[in-house]
Formats: sequence, structure tokens, C-alpha cells
Amino acid sequence: MATIKFYKSEEQVPLEMHKVRVVQKLFLPPIEERVKKINEAGNNTFLLQNKDVYMDMLTDSGVNAMSDNQVAAMFQADDSYAGSETCNRLIKVIKEVFGTEYFLPAHQGRACENILAEAFVKPGDVVPMNFHFTTTKSHITRKGGSVVELVRKCGLEPQNNEPFKGNFDIPALEKVIAEVGAEHIPFVRIEAGTNLIGGQPLSLENMLQVAEICKKNGILSLLDASLLQDNLYFIKTREEACKNMTIREITRTLCDKMDLIYFSSRKLGFARGGGIISNNEKLILKMKEFIPLYEGFLTYGGMEVRSMEAMAVGLLETMDEEIISQGPMFIEHLVKELDSYGVPMILPAGGLGAHINAMEFLKDIPQSEYPAGALAAALYIAGGIRGMERGSLSEQRNPDGSEHYSDMELVRLACPRRVFTLSQIKYCADRVKWLYDNRHLIGGLRWEEEPSVLRFFFGQLRPIGNWQEKLADKFREDFGDSL
Ligand code: F0G
Repeated sequence: MATIKFYKSEEQVPLEMHKVRVVQKLFLPPIEERVKKINEAGNNTFLLQNKDVYMDMLTDSGVNAMSDNQVAAMFQADDSYAGSETCNRLIKVIKEVFGTEYFLPAHQGRACENILAEAFVKPGDVVPMNFHFTTTKSHITRKGGSVVELVRKCGLEPQNNEPFKGNFDIPALEKVIAEVGAEHIPFVRIEAGTNLIGGQPLSLENMLQVAEICKKNGILSLLDASLLQDNLYFIKTREEACKNMTIREITRTLCDKMDLIYFSSRKLGFARGGGIISNNEKLILKMKEFIPLYEGFLTYGGMEVRSMEAMAVGLLETMDEEIISQGPMFIEHLVKELDSYGVPMILPAGGLGAHINAMEFLKDIPQSEYPAGALAAALYIAGGIRGMERGSLSEQRNPDGSEHYSDMELVRLACPRRVFTLSQIKYCADRVKWLYDNRHLIGGLRWEEEPSVLRFFFGQLRPIGNWQEKLADKFREDFGDSL
């Protein structure tokens, strides 16, 4: 991306440094349909059909646009069960980019988490991390371990000018290690950038400090690099000491200090799939046998070889600052526009997507009525926009069955990389502004069907009262026949 100043205007506009050559037709169902569809989906945006969605901002996972070079590379995939040239090409790129010798392929990020938990987590173990991700926590707790979150206090404050809100609280990490004992800590997991607290990045300095503490205590450092792409951009643009480093140099400086790294290539590298990488052969051997058992043979690990070719090219593109700036710059544009209108946003803008603070947006809706879920449903009604609840619905209940209310109630508006145009981003901002002005009309949700594991994926809820009809009436009043 480039930031362009327009003639006779103060506005700084992010300008795409790519053009679109393959397009997909979109539909925007009329408002009556949208009320119907969201209820058929149990007010759960995961259960909406894509054909009924105008802007799919559910996730940045597996939906990033590929480049011409990625698509071209897919044609030369070497389709073999074992020993494919595609895998050799990918290993070469991984070594070039991350400096790691060994690669265990897996079909996506959570598959890596499954293998890491299987190999390293024992009952009673404690895994410190800056912040959990849903699937990570589930894999660790399933093996009898528990998670301790050590993000600094500012990371949980919705609005704070800190550039690296995802950073570890270093003294807190040292305290946990002293209290729990290194022998009960299989690894410290560094999530860079964070997912559930608004795509907030970590500084290179903080991550290197964590690695140093791990080394001193004989504990493994584990980097979840799924969201590293945006984080690299933030290190380059926000961390004074890294201003003159290239993205490649930042990546190598970081990865050289990690014992283990895993990633979802559904996010990192504009592709699909994932993998675990390391320079430590002993650690790799502890996990190796699980790959054919759970994923597939060691040269594809459950991935489609074409995806592996796309991943190799995508990882190289990730080293290009101009390419990786697209996501963060569009997100910043959306966040700034909404923030200046008064919409409570997570500040500063992070990676992955824009995050609305639903607790503040819908002040009168208690957490027991899931304000973030309600706002996500309302936004689909307002604009055919599919965001994702990242609040209490995304938590799991306490062992005694009581609700575990999340620290933040967020609606995430993911910006898949290289997918949307700026006018679509502006449309999204417009519909959020309208909702904000009509927030008094939005009501809460209650469970109708609640699954016991990862309930946010398939759970179904109902609106409390008839607020959705009232919202639709107001929409017709304000927008008339317009969709
Ligand atoms: N780690 C992080 C930080 C993630 O954001 C994700 C996925 C995973 C691991 C798991 O990877 O989906 O390939 O199995 N996040 C997606 C999201 C699902 O929508 O935020 P996966």
C-alpha cells in the first residue's frame, strides 16, 4: 500500500498497490430477508450462508486473496503422497524466511496445537502465554493442562495509546515461573499478534525478553506466528529500534531465538495449511510420529500440495513491506473513521480486523445477554455484514457450569488481506455509524441450543423481545427502498 494525499484535501488515503483480476459476484439481500436469515442462523454469524452475506468480515482465515504468482505456482504442484518436490520447495523457502531447518506440515493452525499439546503437555502443567486463542486453550485443557494469561494490563484496556498492547508483563512471567516451577511449564506461548484482544501486536524487544527468560529457566519458547504478518508491519512502523531493519531482518532476529514456531497459513502467507518449524531436531522428533497419525505423510501433513506451493510463494510475499501493509492500513482507515464518529473502537488499530467494543456500544445490555453477539447480529441486519462475536459467547463455561464472562465483549470486523475495496470499507463504516445512532433499539440474546465445546461455532440464540423487527422498521424509515 501507499498513503496518498489527495489534491486540495487533508485526507490521507491508503492506495492499493495491486489490481484485481479475478472477481466474485456478491449479493445484498433486502432487509426483511436479512432479519429472517440471521434468525435461521440462530443469531450466530458462523451459521449464515455465504450467499446471503454482502461483506464477509467473519475472519481473515483462509480467505485472503492470492497473487498471480501464487496461483501460477499451484500449477506446478508435485502431486505425490511421499517425497514431493513441492514439499522440498516449501522447506527451502521456510529455511530462507525463518532460518529453521525442520518443518512438520499440518493441515491448519489448530492441528499444530493438537500435536504440540500431545507431545509436550501433561496433566497439571501450566502454559503461560500473553493471551489465549480459543483452539489453543481447548487443546491444552484437553490434555489436563491450564493456561495463564500474562498480557500487560493495558492490553485489556479498550482504548490506550500503547503501540504494543499484546506485550507480556515480564515481571508477571518471572513470578509465574517461580511459583509454578519450570518443570510444570512445558512451554511459554507467544501469540504474535494477539487475536482475542483486538489484533494487538507485540514488540520485538518484548518477545526477545520472553525468549531470554525461557532460556534462563530451561523452558521452551513457542511462537504462534499465525498473525505474525501484521505484527511484523507494526514492529517495523512502531518500534523505534527496528525502523531501519528490513522485514526479513526482523523475522530472522525473532525466529532465531525461538525453540519452536507454529503457524496457520490460512492467515500467514495468504494460503491454507500450516506447520511447526524449529532448529531443534530433538523437539521435532518428539512430534514427528504424530504427523502421519493425525495429519498425513510427512511431506504433505494433510495439506493439498497446491496449497503448499501457494504457501511457499505467499511466505516470500510476506517479507515485502508494501504487500503486508495492506491489511493494517485498511483496518486503520476503518478504525479511524468509526472512532472519529464516536463509535467505541479498540485503539490503537491492530491487525486482523477492526474491533468494536460492544460492552461500551451497548452499555445497557448485561454480559448475561451477550452484547457482542447481539451487535454482530444487528450489523448483519443493518448491512449484510458478517462480523464475529469475540466475547463471552466465545468463552467456555467454568467447570461448575457457570458462565465465564470474558474481559472484553468485542465484535471483530476482519479485513481479509487484499480482498475488499476502499468503497466497501466505507460502506461498512457507514452501516456501523447508523447502528451506533440507533443503538438504543438493539436488545440482547438468550441461548436456544448451547453446545458444550467451542459453543460459538454452532450455538443457536434468540433475540430477547422483538428488537430486530424494530431495527428493520427504522432502517426502512431511514433508507427507504435502498438495500
Ligand atoms: N492461532 C491464532 C493466533 C489464530 O488466530 C488461529 C486462528 C489459530 C491459531 C488456529 O489456526 O484456524 O488454522 O486452525 N484463527 C482463526 C480466526 C480461526 O478466525 O481468528 P487455524
